[in-house]
Amino acid sequence: MNFHVLTLFPDMVRDGFQTSITGRAAEKGLLSLETINIRDFSVNKHNRVDDYPYGGGAGMVMQAEPVYLAYESVAKRTGGTPRVLYMSPQGRVFDQRMAEELAREDELVFLCGHYEGIDERVLQEIVTDEVSIGDYVLTGGELPALVIMDAVSRLLEGVLHNEESAQFDSFHDNLLEYPQYSRPEEWRGRTVPPVLLSGHHANVERWRREQSLIRTRERRPDLLEHAQLTEEDKKFLAKLEEL
Ligand code: ADE
Repeated sequence: MNFHVLTLFPDMVRDGFQTSITGRAAEKGLLSLETINIRDFSVNKHNRVDDYPYGGGAGMVMQAEPVYLAYESVAKRTGGTPRVLYMSPQGRVFDQRMAEELAREDELVFLCGHYEGIDERVLQEIVTDEVSIGDYVLTGGELPALVIMDAVSRLLEGVLHNEESAQFDSFHDNLLEYPQYSRPEEWRGRTVPPVLLSGHHANVERWRREQSLIRTRERRPDLLEHAQLTEEDKKFLAKLEEL
């Protein structure tokens, strides 16, 4: 997977990416990150890339041409027409299913806006997906791009160690994860559930599954509708309803 990020703050994206697991994966050659500074494509002698909005109003708008030239410089290298994700609170809300969909691509281009937005015409010309990371407004698209790259990276072959394997995490099966405990057995008066100390593997597995079901039902009942439940799961949930 090759990530390409069109941004006015390349250092922010590189710093965020290099730290931790995504950086380790890049060093191993499992993925790559290229940042493209939109300012390098300014068509103005003062290196400006923004201008006043037509029709008036507050703030500045990123101009179409520098964004387009930055995109063109990437598209030349990737060949074909890569998906171009524009980070915006107006987009489709990112979720695990979309992460899985994006992880199947070879190249992903992220377009990060700032100020009051980007000239609509260049968005129409190059953007394939407008993506939001949630219903709140950030100052720019860099953090959303990092969030999406992180979620996609951990799904790629070899990025996580076996013991960190992505397939057992929350949302894998539309169920939240069960609670985890480590040493000591008693911490400030709080003890570890005895079943986890029993060494009885089947009982541990059943307890964990039940905890996942309880948590999902309490915290995210909307997910349960899409979860793949066994007959035993359904019976357990029905029993909870009776309580
Ligand atoms: N840019 C500003 N806010 C955003 C959000 N919530 N998601 C994606 N891009 C954004």
